[in-house]
Amino acid sequence: MTPDESPHTADRPLAHIPVEDKARMVSGLTFWMTESLDAAGIRSLQLADGPYGLRHQSGSHDHLALFPSDPATCFPPGVAIGSSWSVEAAARLGAALGREAAAAGVDVVLGPGVNIKRSPLCGRNFEYYSEDPHLAGALGTSYTRALQNEGPGVSVKHFAANNQETNRQTISADVDERTLREIYLPAFEAIVTQAAPATVMSSYNRINGTFAWANHWLLTEVLRDEWGFKGLVVSDWSSVSDPAAALTAGLDLEMPGDPARAAELLTALEEGRIEEADLDRAILRLAALAERVSAAGDGAIDEDEHHRIAREIAAECIVLLRNQYSVLPIPGGAHVAVIGAFAQNPRYQGGGSAHVNATRVDVPLEEISAVAATVGATVDSALGFALDGADGDALREEAVALAARSDIAVVFAGLDEARESEGIDRSTLDLPEDQVALIRAVAERAQRTVVVLSHGGIVSLEGWHDEVDAIVEGFVLGQGGGRAIADVLFGNVDPSGRLAETIPLRLEDHPSWLNFPGEQGHVRYGEGVMVGYRYFATSGTPVRYPFGHGLSYTTFRTDDVTVEQTGEDTAVARVRVTNTGERSGKHVVQVYVQTDAGKVRRPARELRGFAKISLEPGEARTVEIDLPRRAFAYWDIETGSWVVAEGEYRVQVCTDSLTPVSDAVIRLDGDVIAVELTMDTPVGEWLAHPTVGDRTRDALGFTGVEVPEEQMAMVASMTMNQFVKISGLDIAGGVLDDLIAATRTAPPVPHEGE
Ligand code: BGC
Repeated sequence: MTPDESPHTADRPLAHIPVEDKARMVSGLTFWMTESLDAAGIRSLQLADGPYGLRHQSGSHDHLALFPSDPATCFPPGVAIGSSWSVEAAARLGAALGREAAAAGVDVVLGPGVNIKRSPLCGRNFEYYSEDPHLAGALGTSYTRALQNEGPGVSVKHFAANNQETNRQTISADVDERTLREIYLPAFEAIVTQAAPATVMSSYNRINGTFAWANHWLLTEVLRDEWGFKGLVVSDWSSVSDPAAALTAGLDLEMPGDPARAAELLTALEEGRIEEADLDRAILRLAALAERVSAAGDGAIDEDEHHRIAREIAAECIVLLRNQYSVLPIPGGAHVAVIGAFAQNPRYQGGGSAHVNATRVDVPLEEISAVAATVGATVDSALGFALDGADGDALREEAVALAARSDIAVVFAGLDEARESEGIDRSTLDLPEDQVALIRAVAERAQRTVVVLSHGGIVSLEGWHDEVDAIVEGFVLGQGGGRAIADVLFGNVDPSGRLAETIPLRLEDHPSWLNFPGEQGHVRYGEGVMVGYRYFATSGTPVRYPFGHGLSYTTFRTDDVTVEQTGEDTAVARVRVTNTGERSGKHVVQVYVQTDAGKVRRPARELRGFAKISLEPGEARTVEIDLPRRAFAYWDIETGSWVVAEGEYRVQVCTDSLTPVSDAVIRLDGDVIAVELTMDTPVGEWLAHPTVGDRTRDALGFTGVEVPEEQMAMVASMTMNQFVKISGLDIAGGVLDDLIAATRTAPPVPHEGE
């Protein structure tokens, strides 16, 4: 059929396209490009990694960064941005990356990665933001908006419950629905509902047995029907093994291209496993994407300017964990020993598909020397340990001797790229033994010892923490990290990062410990919603440093928080913060909500809002944090909805997840939950039912009768069937049936758009 003969109507805009052409459209053209379809005006799109810098391969290609990519700015990876707690930093990164993508002709950037750091061992934690969904969602939203503002689209990944690398292609993440809804989905939900990402990338893993890319509940019911996603769902690379199942579940595009797919889909069509409308739906989304995104940059990127941005963002991400005797910032005139292989050969990013071919890399030793010179400090260096296995004892002795004749020793320790990469999880949190030995030996001889850490996931600080004076958590900071560290060490920049994940005392203390990385194809998310700090705060298990921790060179005072209810189940918290020190600095206001309202076990507190503010010495500002309905809600599995329970909610302003400094309580009336009753429903639920509770009391003869508490507890736990039998009560015929019928017609629980 030619286009002219086609029944081309507004309802069926693809009716004139031969089905053979349609079948080839839903799989890519090449490794990084989508198919085009001139007859429908759909152009080919260029995709490229990644979350913190462009990995555009104009030569040979792969998805594990085995082949090089074109030079691009390596901005701070997700672990660093997570620690910045700065939506501005995330936006600066997104905008700069968007400009680089547009200049390179890249239509879709494969990032941000917003999976939750369920275990500190996950090999891809360097790419992800946090163990907390609110923080991850807010940063990802900011990044997405800013990047898409430059023309290209994003691909928010990896949807969903991709929280480990061990068996990532096949593992089933076995997660209960409340946990999915409260912990593993909200970052995606926030970005989808607030920033309209162009695409979402489904993950490799299964969720409760079904592959994410073939998961209708996830890709269609939740993503589209509930959240209103209008963009395109793309598969993670080479994940799809059944294209028909993927298409009907809601996957629109399989990447990379697979020439065998068209024939497979035509067979599926013949066999009735897919319909032509399924292909049309996906192609129309591809068409909409091609219309929407643009990679029309002018091709000119100011590399110097982007390097400067990378440095400035990196400086926002550094977390000062410890600073005894205010050993930092390093005073002018000091003689500084810079020790450790990472000072000369920096670890600044992770391995795998996110790997960026950086335009240049700041070397910490050089940057420290440059900044030191401006304040009359002098610098000497020693390797201390080698990454290639050279004589460790000799290197250590030389470094210790240098440390002994210096005013302050700065030891750069951490993990090399080989230990942390896509495709593999770590098995330990420990630093390599030779580095621990070096830190301890230096600390014993040096007047003052500072440790600067470089790594993608967190490392244990045990065995040496108490022996050193200061610890600067540098994670992986991108190509400008060297200068950022130098600026923090000498106080040109106030350290303002806060931990986006807990540093435990022992790996065995971590809530994921017993169920990571799973066995026999399944990983059971046994800790439920008690992920990261939610568990530590609830159980009282001691930690080395809590989520939210981070020091500054100045001091801040937090006045009493006030909370004003702004609607039935919304509020605003207001808190005044004053810089009471003598240096300018940045403070992160962290607002948590604590409650035991509702039918479910709530974590001790949950982060519900935050703001990073900059204050000059003596300056004060009042910060307002909105607390929407969701800040008080839990996912109720009985009604399959978000529920705000009646009760008290303590709004806490904290300096970290374990340390409230001020709080205020509000009381919410909560939702009316009218579940349908049956004869198998426990009597307690009948009595508590908002519409038929009183009538049940009458029917059972409890009205006006004092029943002892223990007896009542026993009655409440029986099903109505059991109670009727055991009690021998002669309940007038049909009364209970009438009550059951009344609960079926009861008004639904208010959803308010959730
Ligand atoms: C990764 C994705 C990446 C893709 C393309 C996959 O292995 O999981 O994050 O975007 O490769 O490189």
